[in-house]
Amino acid sequence: MSQTASSITGQDGIAVETRSLNLWYGDFQALFDIDLKVRQGIITSLIGPSGCGKSTFLRSINRINERLGYVRITGGIHLLGHDIYAEGVNLSQLRKQVGMVFQRPNPLPISIRDNVLFAVEIHDEGGKKAGRANKEEIVEAALRRVLLWDSVKDRLNTKATTLSLEEQQKLCIARLLPVKPSILLMDEPCSALDPKGTEAVEEMIWELRGDYTILIVTHNMAQARRASEECIFMLMGKVVEHTATADMFVNPKDRRTADYIEGRYG
Ligand SMILES: Nc1ncnc2c1ncn2[C@@H]1O[C@H](COP(=O)(O)OP(=O)(O)O)[C@@H](O)[C@H]1O
Ligand SMILES: [Mg+2]
Repeated sequence: MSQTASSITGQDGIAVETRSLNLWYGDFQALFDIDLKVRQGIITSLIGPSGCGKSTFLRSINRINERLGYVRITGGIHLLGHDIYAEGVNLSQLRKQVGMVFQRPNPLPISIRDNVLFAVEIHDEGGKKAGRANKEEIVEAALRRVLLWDSVKDRLNTKATTLSLEEQQKLCIARLLPVKPSILLMDEPCSALDPKGTEAVEEMIWELRGDYTILIVTHNMAQARRASEECIFMLMGKVVEHTATADMFVNPKDRRTADYIEGRYG
């Protein structure tokens, strides 16, 4: 993949660019030569059978794989033009820029309000120094953005863990927003929700398009089709196909993509 000047400065509309990314858990290689360009401001879905490396790929973008001592990586990832594996990269800065939500909503067992303010206060951006009024604004804006404000505005001091799973997942997205991430990684964010909750959260994620670059893993082909503009199909640690979602589903280029979409893999 060529290293054009524009991709280095991130001005070519590319949010994440990987170059020959390989990853091993001990001796086991989970990612092979991943070369991808994820476009800025759109939703890209990541599909493929269980175990093909979707979560591993996502976790390499905010470098949380490395918390395991036995992970080794070669190649590189550029985020908005910056090499995130370069020496001296500030991981706390990186994780502010790259927010992540998981399969099971994992709000902290504190109030709804404090969940939204948690990261801001840690990073002390408008944290302790911010006035009360400013904090209330931050909370309201984040909760509005995820379509949760109206249902929780009268109970902001309630423990977040008492919310429904749908509300908890919306809150988990809301609490990423105050530190102004540019990229949101979502690892099967609707898999713990019922169909109604799935629909509501998907709809909300769709609303975030444009302001954020969203990379979302899903097993739900209908969700990928409905909710993403581009789609990446992975198989056994490799990228098989990356195209506009409409093309992938109507006219897959690779036989293996067609097989997966038509349900011939697990
Ligand atoms: N922490 C880990 N330690 C060792 N192997 C792992 C670990 N996490 C994932 N793997 C292996 O890496 C491969 C890719 O896993 P994963 O990224 O979780 O796939 P997916 O999200 O597509 O289901 C699988 O073979 C899995 O067993
Ligand atoms: Mg996974």
